[in-house]
Formats: sequence, structure tokens, C-alpha cells
Amino acid sequence: MAPSPFRRPSSAPAHPHRATARIGVSFNGELALKSRAEELARDLDLPLAIAGDPDFDLLLAVTSERLELCNARAPRPGPVYVDFTSLDLRPCSANLSRRQPLARAFGKKVRTIVDATAGYGQDALLLALMGFRVTAIERSPVVAALARDGLHRLVSLTGLTLSGRLQIVNGDSRALLPAIAPRPDAIYLDPMFPPKRRKSAAVKKEMRLLRELVGDDADALELLAISRSVAHDRVVVKRPDDAPPLAPDPSMSIAGKLVRYDVYLTRH
Ligand SMILES: C[S@@+](CC[C@H](N)C(=O)[O-])C[C@H]1O[C@@H](n2cnc3c(N)ncnc32)[C@H](O)[C@@H]1O
Repeated sequence: MAPSPFRRPSSAPAHPHRATARIGVSFNGELALKSRAEELARDLDLPLAIAGDPDFDLLLAVTSERLELCNARAPRPGPVYVDFTSLDLRPCSANLSRRQPLARAFGKKVRTIVDATAGYGQDALLLALMGFRVTAIERSPVVAALARDGLHRLVSLTGLTLSGRLQIVNGDSRALLPAIAPRPDAIYLDPMFPPKRRKSAAVKKEMRLLRELVGDDADALELLAISRSVAHDRVVVKRPDDAPPLAPDPSMSIAGKLVRYDVYLTRH
């Protein structure tokens, strides 16, 4: 009998900071998608799954349109995928203004940024479109795959050119940053926010699934310390507006609507 391509689900590899959702790669039955799903499962070292398999918590589904992350047990609230085409990315838009808090936090001299907590890649994309040269590092291979898929669709659907200003890398920034050459002018950190004590029903499904997938980033302080020893000019940390700074005494803080950017100048 030929070996079955369907391995039993295994929990995510041991990682003290990662949630342990059981994840599989699925496809919607179309034969054309099977080889893409198999390749992705191999790349991400995840088992291939049949849609609806109750042994999985989350399914990374290859569809003819896009890559989707679904809750394997509950059809609602529907799949999560990265859709940058819904953002206003016109050069004159508020999202890309150099006067908005995210851009101001990096100042006038910064040219190169490592986004060391890339997530779905939205901030990294905005920074690249503002003109910074951005390397975005994401340690969850599943989240990195969703971000790459979103970027790929944005480029192919809109013809937008980034001229190589955004690169998405899969890996743990704590290990990658000390070896990065040349050292970036700035490092950007947006670790998972501590969960609110009273859970809001309004938390977006994207963030709920992200938390299920990656956990709470309990090592954010360690990442900040490493970043401060690597960035030439500054480390910028995004925080909820009502949360204390990740480390005491930021050099300055730039307030946004619901978030704050704490800036730690490094200059070494
Ligand atoms: C809140 S999300 C970032 C959202 C992102 N700013 C965006 O615009 O989509 C935090 C992400 O950082 C990632 N992360 C946390 N610590 C990391 C590390 N040491 N190396 C790489 N990625 C990390 C988590 O896996 C998670 O996906």
C-alpha cells in the first residue's frame, strides 16, 4: 500500500511562546490545487488534511483564489486571509503620509527598517510604500505564508511595484537580528498586545486566530533588548494607548488614535 500523504496532526513544535493549535494544510478538492497544497505542507512541515477533519484546530486552506486560515471546527466567523487590496494605498493617502504617527516615529534619517514582528505584514507594507527599505521577519511559518500570499496577490492584482523594498522572511528575530548585515537603521516591534481582562466581542477574527496560532509573545522584552543592541538609530515599539511601555523610559512617544509608538534611541 502506498504511504498515505495524510499524516496525523501534530501540535506545533515545542516553543515556549507559541500556542499549540493543531494545524493542517487542506485544499478544496480540485486536483489542480492538490500539488500546491502538498508543496506548501512540505515547506511548512505540516500534515495534509481533509477539510472538516475534527483532529485539527486550524486549517490552512489552498483555494483557487488565495490562501486562507480557517477554524477547523467552526465555520463562523469565516476564513482569515490577507487582503491588502482593501487598503487605500494611493501615494497621497493618509495611510502613506509621512506626517502620520507611524512614519513620524522613525524620524527623517532612517532609511532601512527590520520589522521584527511582521505578523500579517500590514505595517511592513505601509512602511515600504512610504519609501523605507523593509525586511519583515515573522516566526510563525503559517502567518508568514499568509502575508506572502497577500503581498503576491496585491502585486499581481494591482500591478503595484515595490522595487524590492519589502522582503518577508520566516524565522525568529531573536536569532536572526544579531547576525543581520548591514545593521538596519531602525527596528520595529509590534508584539501581540496583552489580552484585555474583559474580552471584547469586537476583537477582529484576524487577531483572534493570530493569537490562537502564535500565543502571547511573552518574550517581547528579550526581543526589545536584542533590538536595542542591533539598530543603528532607534527601536520603535507599538503599544496599546493604555498599556505601559514595554521597557521603562522610552526616549519619546508618538501618540496615535488607539496605539502609541514608543521610541528607544540607540545611536551606536
Ligand atoms: C501583533 S502581530 C504583528 C502585526 C503586524 N504589525 C501587522 O501589521 O500585521 C505580532 C507578530 O509578531 C510575531 N513575533 C513575535 N515575536 C517574534 C520573534 N521573536 N520573531 C519573529 N516574529 C515574532 C508573532 O508571531 C506575531 O505574528
